[in-house]
Amino acid sequence: MEQAFICVEHLCKDYITPHHHFRALDNIHLSIQQGDVLGIIGQSGAGKSTLIRCLNLLEKPTSGRILIDNEDITQFSGSRLRAFRHQIGMIFQNFALFEQRTILQNVLFPLEIAPTMTKKQAKQRAMELLEWVGLSNKAQHYPSQLSGGQQQRVAIARALANNPKIMLCDEATSALDTLTAHSILNLLKKINNEFGVTIILITHSLSVAAQVCKNIVVLDSGKIVETGSVSQVLTSPQSEVAKSLISIGGYGNAA
Ligand SMILES: Nc1ncnc2c1ncn2[C@@H]1O[C@H](COP(=O)(O)OP(=O)(O)OP(=O)(O)O)[C@@H](O)[C@H]1O
Ligand SMILES: [Mg+2]
Repeated sequence: MEQAFICVEHLCKDYITPHHHFRALDNIHLSIQQGDVLGIIGQSGAGKSTLIRCLNLLEKPTSGRILIDNEDITQFSGSRLRAFRHQIGMIFQNFALFEQRTILQNVLFPLEIAPTMTKKQAKQRAMELLEWVGLSNKAQHYPSQLSGGQQQRVAIARALANNPKIMLCDEATSALDTLTAHSILNLLKKINNEFGVTIILITHSLSVAAQVCKNIVVLDSGKIVETGSVSQVLTSPQSEVAKSLISIGGYGNAA
């Protein structure tokens, strides 16, 4: 069988302090195909952010392997690690824009720290991305002058700057109202359709997962307790977590 684009094998993550040894991820196995939109759902503290942070090595796994395109990224360090990180886009609940930089300068940032083109080309690329997310008229504004939804669009443009193969989204729509969240989710769908970017999206909301994801992984206390297509998990949930997320208000709130 052909190797999946992303293979997570026996992944464990322990947080160890002098008084505490806590296993946040416990023997995670995952296969993610290229072009998938995978939702990771689970309750607070389940290990969702830890898992996504292990995928771009912001957290170093305690044990296990993560193969991306047949390369074990847990072995990367130095310039190889930096180059790898540039191929991964990430967006967060709080947008994480640089407040002192204009919108254009925010989108230019990844092109400045890993220059692959001239300044003129970088500016052109950044303006094209802002056009693509519908914000070219805000290029000279600062983040504080934009709405939450607009700020998330800028964060998406910045995440796309280096043509990532993978985009990681940690509760990217949780701070937004339902309609705005919907438009951001549509933008993620467009990124997946037009650019073939593999998207891994953390959410506590089955409604969000239902709008955009193809497959779902359910995490509970650091373990995967269910995987399946969106329709499988929504129509016949197997795990207690998925059952309870469905029972508390349909598919949860849209954001
Ligand atoms: N740096 C750390 N040191 C110690 N424990 C940590 C650390 N980071 C996370 N944890 C613990 O690991 C567990 C998983 O945390 P994580 O942030 O991955 O949860 P989550 O599923 O993203 O939750 P939420 O939905 O609230 O964001 C939690 O119990 C948390 O307290
Ligand atoms: Mg989290």
